[in-house]
Amino acid sequence: MASLLFSPYFIAGAILWVFAGVVAYFWLVSFLFGAGYQGAPRKSIEVMFRFAQVGPHDILYELGAGVGAIAFPAARKYHAHVVAVEIEPLRVLIMRFRRAMGSDAGRLDVRRGNMYALDFRPATVVTAFLWPGAMARLKPKFEAELQPGTRVLSRCHPIIGWTPAVHDPDADVYYYRWPDARRPGKIGA
Ligand SMILES: C[S@@+](CC[C@H](N)C(=O)[O-])C[C@H]1O[C@@H](n2cnc3c(N)ncnc32)[C@H](O)[C@@H]1O
Repeated sequence: MASLLFSPYFIAGAILWVFAGVVAYFWLVSFLFGAGYQGAPRKSIEVMFRFAQVGPHDILYELGAGVGAIAFPAARKYHAHVVAVEIEPLRVLIMRFRRAMGSDAGRLDVRRGNMYALDFRPATVVTAFLWPGAMARLKPKFEAELQPGTRVLSRCHPIIGWTPAVHDPDADVYYYRWPDARRPGKIGA
């Protein structure tokens, strides 16, 4: 029995199963929460920062932060104060580990929680890479809580009924300025 346990085939098989389990968990569990996991591409993230002109005076909320693809560069490169909210515990752990490895812990607030329960009033920038249903559910909360001047960026999915200041189809980023986004009109108007 012991020789079976230590055989290279058994060990390789066990490693494969554990790896497959972690991958399955990581990709699938968020479907329970209404949005699966996919990291935003770096190009789209840079477009978001450029549109919103993110800087040290900003308080940036990343909704459904995943492993912090937007949160970490916002804090590290653009020196914004960041609130990264994620519902899935493993990703929160990864973000906390990443934060512990850096020198910018003071700028990064990593919260495990439900973004629908957040108070958006302190935010000056909000970023999201979610599903259409999530954007629809967030919209009334945005309308009730966002302060004038807040910039909202969404990758892939527009906020239906809002007019973006800019839509970059290449990076697939929608950029809104609140409350101008309420006005009907043409993109870029
Ligand atoms: C498509 S991923 C985007 C991850 C990251 N923002 C990025 O751009 O790389 C969406 C994330 O939203 C998280 N999420 C879904 N519903 C949530 C909720 N109600 N509250 C907080 N996070 C949520 C998922 O767990 C997932 O990590």
